[in-house]
Amino acid sequence: MEVEVWAAAGVEMDKFDFFMANLQGQIFEDTKRAYGEAGFQRWRNPIYQGRMKNPDAHAKITGQCGDTMEMFLKFENNCVMDASFVTDGCGSSSVCGSFAAEMALRKTPDELTDITGEAILDKIGTFPEGEAHCAYLAAETLQKSLQIYMRRQTGVSRVNSGKYPHNQ
Ligand code: FES
Repeated sequence: MEVEVWAAAGVEMDKFDFFMANLQGQIFEDTKRAYGEAGFQRWRNPIYQGRMKNPDAHAKITGQCGDTMEMFLKFENNCVMDASFVTDGCGSSSVCGSFAAEMALRKTPDELTDITGEAILDKIGTFPEGEAHCAYLAAETLQKSLQIYMRRQTGVSRVNSGKYPHNQ
């Protein structure tokens, strides 16, 4: 009797595993179609994700969809030496945040201004049309963090010049 119960449970488990494997395969196929191979890999593993300790600039923007994107930048010799993002949004926003952070690496402030929503979408290659706003949110947050960095730089140079003692 006990053997029969276990056997039945085993059969049920096999069916369940089969169902799950099938479902996962279907989700992966659909995602690959929507994001292309590069976007799919990033969807599975959104690298450059996480809060940065002591960034030189950090910006946070909530998009019209209600999702929030945060960008962190660290500079060295006037180039981005580290970049990361955090979002509470969908998989698409993670993909865009991840690509935006990657594209920011080793860029000067001037070069960073070229990272637009279109540039992020171009870099990914294939992207769901209805979710392009995720790329614009990532780009906007990156540009905002650049602005913050530039404002701080200006403040520092003013303090160093001694012309603006109130900034100290
Ligand atoms: Fe809101 Fe992607 S749906 S950022």
